[in-house]
Order: sequence, then C-alpha cells, then structure tokens
Amino acid sequence: MKPQIFVTRRLPQGAMDLLEENFNVECNPNDRVLTREELLSSVKGKQGLLPLLTETVDGEVMDAAGKGLRIVANYAVGYNNIDLAAATARKIAVTNTPGVLTETTADLTMGLILSVARRIVEADTFARAGKYRNWAPLLLVGADIHNKTLGLFGFGRIGFAVARRAAGFDMRILYHDLKRAEAELEKQVNAEYVDKETLLKESDFVSVHVPLSPDTLHMIGPEELSSMKSTAFIINTSRGEVIDEDALVAALGAKKIAGAGLDVFEHEPKIHPALAKMDNVVILPHIGSASIETRTQMGLVAAKNMIAALRGDVPPNCLNPEIYV
Ligand code: DGY
Repeated sequence: MKPQIFVTRRLPQGAMDLLEENFNVECNPNDRVLTREELLSSVKGKQGLLPLLTETVDGEVMDAAGKGLRIVANYAVGYNNIDLAAATARKIAVTNTPGVLTETTADLTMGLILSVARRIVEADTFARAGKYRNWAPLLLVGADIHNKTLGLFGFGRIGFAVARRAAGFDMRILYHDLKRAEAELEKQVNAEYVDKETLLKESDFVSVHVPLSPDTLHMIGPEELSSMKSTAFIINTSRGEVIDEDALVAALGAKKIAGAGLDVFEHEPKIHPALAKMDNVVILPHIGSASIETRTQMGLVAAKNMIAALRGDVPPNCLNPEIYV
C-alpha cells in the first residue's frame, strides 16, 4: 500500500503528479490557508506532511499526525515555520527546497531595486490615471542604479545571485555575513566584505538575504535605519521579521531613508497600513519565487524529499540528518 501523505495546498500539476504516482495524497481541497483545527485533523494518520510557509508545524501538529509521521517536506527554502527541534526529538525528517528558487528570487530582488529607485510602480499608476500630459525634466525623476553601492546582508545562494546581477549594472558590491566568503566567490562579483556599520553607512541599496532566526529577528531596527544614507533604499525578499516594521515606518516617515522595496512583512499577510500609503514603498505579496518554472521545481524537490524519506533513505535536503544515525 502506498504511504499516506497530506499536502496543505495544491501545488503546480507536475509536482502533484509525482506525488500521486508515489503516495495516497490527501490535499487541502480549498484555495485558502487551512485553519489550525483543519491542519490538526488532516495530518492524522499520515506518514508525510507537505506544508507551506503559511503553516506552523510544531510538536502539536506532529503529535496529531501520530507515531507514523516520518517527514515534514517544506515547500520553501526558509523553514522558520517548522519546529526543527521538536521534529528531531521525534525522529521526523525535515526538508526544504534550496537552490531551485535562488535565481528567481534574485530576479525579483533586482526588480524591487529597479522599481523603487526608478519609481516604476508610481509612474505606471500616474500614467494609467491619465495624468501624463507632457514630458518634463523633473517628471517622476528617481535615482540611478548603475555605479551605485549595493550592500547585501547575507551572501549565501540568493545574496550571491543578486550580486551577480548587480555586477552587470556596474554596482559596487559590499556584503556582510557571519563569515567571509571564499576569495574566489568575492572575486567573481568584485564583492567587498565589510562590517555591518560600513555596509549601512556606504550603501545606496541595502538588501536583506538572511534566514529568520532568533539572531536575525529585527536585525534591522531604528539604529540600523538611522545609520543609512537619507538617499538610500532598503530591500527585503527574505523574511519580514528581519526588519522591525514599526522602525521602518518611522524612518520612512522621518525621511531618514529614501524608500523601500518589500516582498515580505513582519505580520504577513498583514501589511502595515502606513507602508501601503507611501509612494516611495513598493509592496509585493511575497512573490520572490513565484514563477511557474520555480514553483514547479520547488514542488518536485519537496516530492523527491518525501519519496526518499518514505523509502527509508536520507532525503536529499534533510535539515536534521542526525536522526538517521
Ligand atoms: C521560501 O522558499 O522560503 C520563500 O519565502 C518562498 O518561496
């Protein structure tokens, strides 16, 4: 008999097909996030759970599944929605989908940099409203991107992919991370490792590419925002909680920084009402990885993790391989 799995939201068809070939798949029939009660009752008796970042998978959910649960295959590279320690304690594998969304997320990051600096969304709204009467020297003037300085917090896969793109715009690239990258990687994009203060002080664009953890929660707060240039922009395609959103609203309101490009929010899907009123903020509904190619690949990676774990192998993207020793 095929193992029973639960998928919390319908995935692109290619991924659903692969899952259905291998498992008895039960899937959330509705196009909405499950309630906590629905999640707790749906996991009962399943050997595999495939959640999204919209579900908190903690010990209670794992226990609701029962003793047979062997894998939580997250449909995301970030896994702050999963209690990894609780899974490890119960010998349940946890996997994510690294790699396949790197380039797509980096594309969107560049999109935010371009949009916010060149006022693309504002200009589109202006033109659609029938306000374009004459070309004018100061009509919707923004800031240049080329030859400017990009500061990257986090120089992992996505940070580096953004740096590669930025190098094509002749940007100077600074980065800060827990540890310095290999000289060869730095050389490829001409990136300079700097301390946090230098990055904040010298960058025209500060872009955040760190995972959410207790160490990165509110990593950008009032002090950091005050250290930035008043002409600088902040970009976030990682996790909303990395930036203290009240501090961001205050800094934007006081014109301590020039603008923000945000794909993620501290209380997602809620967006701070003040941000939504600011013309110098571009707001996207967490679409960093949202291309059909990438969302399909993410589903295939999650499915392959599930297949390996339920066959008794260590899944390729296992975050707690220690459960297998
Ligand atoms: C992730 O994978 O962590 C993104 O936020 C969604 O693709």
